[in-house]
Amino acid sequence: MASDTQDRQGGQGGPLLEVDGLCVTLFTDAGELRCIQDLSFSMRRGETLAVVGESGCGKSMTALSIMDLIPKPPAKIVGGRILFEGTDLVQLPDDRMRDYRGNEISMIFQEPMTSLNPVMLCGKQIAEGLLVHNPDMAKAEADAKALDMIRFVGIPAPEKVFKSYPFELSGGMRQRIMIAMALACEPAMLICDEPTTALDVTIQAQVLQLIDRMRQETGTAVMLITHDMGVVSEMADWVLVMYAGRQVEYTRASELFAHPAHPYAQGLIDSIPSMDASGERLYAIPGNVPMLNELPSGCLFNPRCPYARDICRREVPGFTPVDGDEGHRVACWKYTDRWEEGR
Ligand SMILES: Nc1ncnc2c1ncn2[C@@H]1O[C@H](COP(=O)(O)OP(=O)(O)OP(=O)(O)O)[C@@H](O)[C@H]1O
Ligand SMILES: [Mg+2]
Repeated sequence: MASDTQDRQGGQGGPLLEVDGLCVTLFTDAGELRCIQDLSFSMRRGETLAVVGESGCGKSMTALSIMDLIPKPPAKIVGGRILFEGTDLVQLPDDRMRDYRGNEISMIFQEPMTSLNPVMLCGKQIAEGLLVHNPDMAKAEADAKALDMIRFVGIPAPEKVFKSYPFELSGGMRQRIMIAMALACEPAMLICDEPTTALDVTIQAQVLQLIDRMRQETGTAVMLITHDMGVVSEMADWVLVMYAGRQVEYTRASELFAHPAHPYAQGLIDSIPSMDASGERLYAIPGNVPMLNELPSGCLFNPRCPYARDICRREVPGFTPVDGDEGHRVACWKYTDRWEEGR
């Protein structure tokens, strides 16, 4: 996979991030639950990768694995590599990982209050982050840069907000402060885990525009975790579709919408509300994502799949190119030469 990825991405010095065979297990009283299985994908500078899938598919776990913030215990990375500019983050000692987190890779969480300090002025929090990662920076310089960042994220009256506590701000403003914090160190990679679900629609659009502007201006690679396929179509270059902890499809966003290959991806796209289909009932994929303690054998999607055959119930499909296209991969028996014998 690694060499394929390299070939596909070529140019621009190759991928910024390469996840290769990542496996995360939850060690629980109910036994060992495989939460992420054999996940491989890569990201390039200046590009946006959307990670999609229903609730519980492992999107946040994937993001937290890259940040080394998975809940330990019960979770543990039991296999694979997370190469950031060639350095395997999985093997890094905690103190070296801290240099990457915030500095090279930043994350915007769904709920801003989880990452803001309630008793520190907003501006000081941003300045503090800068000072932690740039010990030689003068305090006044950090304050000035923090104020610039507050301005950059489009907050009106930045001087006033600099001197506000998080609780004094609206949800949308707090989200912007968190984004300002995440962007202040100009990370090479920004992970956004459902960055706008807590916000109302107009603010959502502004926050997404902000993230996109940052990507264009600084060449940051953006991982965007979202439930919203509309956001995917507007923002993403590439899409990774996850199902029950596994990758089921990886392709260009335009290709996913035009020719979704995996029946699960097709279901997600058919579930998008359309403007012209007023009155029609919205399609919903039948059934639910399986619990980790009752994963089916074979393809994990087979109990919900309209095309499932015996082979799908027996064997796990590989993650293979669709019609020879290395940039479009799918985990589905339908696209293999064993499909006809699979009844
Ligand atoms: N702290 C934890 N302890 C035990 N299990 C967990 C923990 N966090 C997540 N899980 C389990 O790991 C699996 C993947 O969860 P994850 O949070 O990555 O899903 P997700 O795709 O981000 O879902 P959502 O769209 O709801 O945010 C789920 O089965 C979830 O129940
Ligand atoms: Mg999540």
